[in-house]
Amino acid sequence: MKTLVSLCKRRGFIFQSSEIYGGLNSCWDYGPLGVQLKKNIERYWWDTMTLRDDIEGVDASILMHPRVWEASGHVEGFTDPLIDCKKCKARFRADALSEACCPEKPSKHPGECGGELTEARAFNLMFKTYMGPVETEASRIFLRPETAQGSYVNFLNVQTTMRKKTPFGIAQVGKAFRNEITPGNFIFRTREFEQMEMQFFVNPKEDMKWFDYWKEERIKWHKSLGIHPQKLRFYEHGKDQLAHYAKQAFDVQYEFPFGWSELEGIHNRTDYDLSRHEEFSGKKLQYLDDDTKEKYIPYVIETAVGLNRTLLAVLCDAYHEEEVKDEKRVVLKIKPQFAPVQIAFFPLSKKDDLMNLTHNIKNRFSKKYFSQFDVAGSIGKRYRRQDEAGTPYCVTIDFDSLEDKKVTVRDRDSMKQDRISIDQLENYFEDKFK
Ligand code: GAP
Repeated sequence: MKTLVSLCKRRGFIFQSSEIYGGLNSCWDYGPLGVQLKKNIERYWWDTMTLRDDIEGVDASILMHPRVWEASGHVEGFTDPLIDCKKCKARFRADALSEACCPEKPSKHPGECGGELTEARAFNLMFKTYMGPVETEASRIFLRPETAQGSYVNFLNVQTTMRKKTPFGIAQVGKAFRNEITPGNFIFRTREFEQMEMQFFVNPKEDMKWFDYWKEERIKWHKSLGIHPQKLRFYEHGKDQLAHYAKQAFDVQYEFPFGWSELEGIHNRTDYDLSRHEEFSGKKLQYLDDDTKEKYIPYVIETAVGLNRTLLAVLCDAYHEEEVKDEKRVVLKIKPQFAPVQIAFFPLSKKDDLMNLTHNIKNRFSKKYFSQFDVAGSIGKRYRRQDEAGTPYCVTIDFDSLEDKKVTVRDRDSMKQDRISIDQLENYFEDKFK
């Protein structure tokens, strides 16, 4: 992971938050390449979901009525059991005590510094803040710990305005916040992150059919990002691991450098959320099927994936080190469709006629492909920089190009070079980015 973290900084993917102030633990800023890659993944998810006739999108507020979190069960149940050391004042998760180290004596376990450990106490993971100028219990609200509730409270709004019939879904992408006790592994577990969640409302009689359907759709989606299939697997939650709302749950896991870990959760949330919101708000959230006259609270099949985690999996999966002519080549083999720079254009030298021709060619492509212009250093050095950025194609414009109207296109993965007519470039790339 250390190698990847340093590549991410060096190439402008991800920086430590507030770095010039010494950084803020577990908070990260996405640089020019990182944000582009993140947006490419997000757009792909959004299109996968909302280009379907049976899914609509929403963008709900991060701040919601505090009763939402009572209804959802988060006020009562979204907690980790914590134990304090009375001597060094450190806090530990009770369920991970055996893996934790004493901050004063890192070779020792909690309590071995001679401090007395308290009983476990429930610590709520929701971030709290105050709405308005008065900081009282009545003005206390939460930063949402999941986007899902914004979709549930809008269930009727979406269903009636869009005249949807079950089964239909609501997709949402947005920030979520959790005051995690043990954030870490770079951007894997952070306190501020982005989720891409889709809630699919179904007739309760058909819940298992749709659960199985979405399970398969979602693993296919991860594979279509270019992630190696052997690095993806399902993990089924045992009865004792199920969240308070779930009847059945599978995680899609990826084999990160630190082990198999969750990328996405697929849950059968039953009618738990809508029933609870009906109870707490006093508003009916039932669905009436006009054809069969059946009336019911739909069951929800949820697909919930972390955008940052997906990006981390894409980066880990793409990272390769190779030996080329006795030198180490570091290359990110990101699927061309998602690469933050898709084509880099290099004039061989800074001579005016080469610079002009390069700009002319680049301008033809920069509206369709994420493009970069690079004139600094030898062509070999420029290739290495683009390899580390994951750029699938580099186009070199040389002195012959002025005469034969051809350029050299170099492929990131095979390092093979093709000499292509400038007027054939559009067709050439059309094929490559299919
Ligand atoms: N609405 C259901 C829900 O929130 P979850 O399994 O708690 O389920 C869904 O979260 C996804 O959000 C996870 O699979 C993970 O990818 C991402 N996620 C959760 N907590 C995270 C954290 N602290 N940092 C980064 N991503 C996180």
